[in-house]
Amino acid sequence: MSTHPSTPAGARLSGRTVLITGGARGQGASHAERLASEGARVLACDVLDDAGKATATRLQEAGLDVEYMHLDVTSPDDWARAVQHARTATGRLDVLVNNAGIIHVNPLLEERAEDWNATLSVNVTGPLLGIQAAAPLMRENGGGSVINVASIFGVVGAAGYVAYCASKGALIALTKTAALELAADGIRVNALCPGGVSTPMNEHEKEGGVIPQTPMGRRAHVREISGAVAFLASDDSSFTTGTEMIIDGGFLAH
Ligand SMILES: NC(=O)c1ccc[n+]([C@@H]2O[C@H](COP(=O)([O-])OP(=O)(O)OC[C@H]3O[C@@H](n4cnc5c(N)ncnc54)[C@H](O)[C@@H]3O)[C@@H](O)[C@H]2O)c1
Repeated sequence: MSTHPSTPAGARLSGRTVLITGGARGQGASHAERLASEGARVLACDVLDDAGKATATRLQEAGLDVEYMHLDVTSPDDWARAVQHARTATGRLDVLVNNAGIIHVNPLLEERAEDWNATLSVNVTGPLLGIQAAAPLMRENGGGSVINVASIFGVVGAAGYVAYCASKGALIALTKTAALELAADGIRVNALCPGGVSTPMNEHEKEGGVIPQTPMGRRAHVREISGAVAFLASDDSSFTTGTEMIIDGGFLAH
């Protein structure tokens, strides 16, 4: 089972089916472990098939119900296949964690349309396609919870990251609109805004990045984000929708 100390003894996600994008590594793999350790059956999806299979195997060997499936979040066909698999295997889909994301650095005036479009496509269009694919099955079972992984850089700017900031800001706005449209179906939609988190995304700048501006003086461990995902996935957050939850070691408190 899970090794982290904050895992509660209860199984508040027992009987629930969860789909996590970007689940091969980093935060997504940690979310898969946490939600499965709370009783969920987890479909971890990614484009990194070798890493995804290795993660699923590691978690299965720990006794967790985690399966890997290839899913490029920009592909409507891949989304249809993944949701159909959830339907066939478990008859339901309760939680969608839109966690996949990409980032690149370009000065604003040198930003290339190709990089801009790729970032918007994965970070914003991907979650939109995911909600469109998942909502009908969620609705059939009375509702569900969608968690869109945005960023503190959807709330404030970051020099050199124009496409990333624009994409995460758009994802927060998408979240609020989806929450309004889907509330009547029992589907809650929330955004999560992590500050710096230690993952492969920023391993090239171990001591730099946001750390100097973070009052707690460090990046989060992935497990510190997974606890919030578990809260938003579970009925403990049953009256929470349309919000952006900030978990940033104090970064935005300035
Ligand atoms: N690391 C941080 O400091 C930080 C801070 C705030 C928000 N975030 C966000 O958290 C999320 C998770 O990132 P991470 O830190 O674990 O980084 P990561 O690079 O380890 O994980 C991102 C995952 O998304 C997958 N992915 C990329 N494009 C995809 C696509 N088209 N289809 C499916 N999967 C795809 C990658 O293969 C990878 O497994 C991202 O949305 C990221 O923007 C990260």
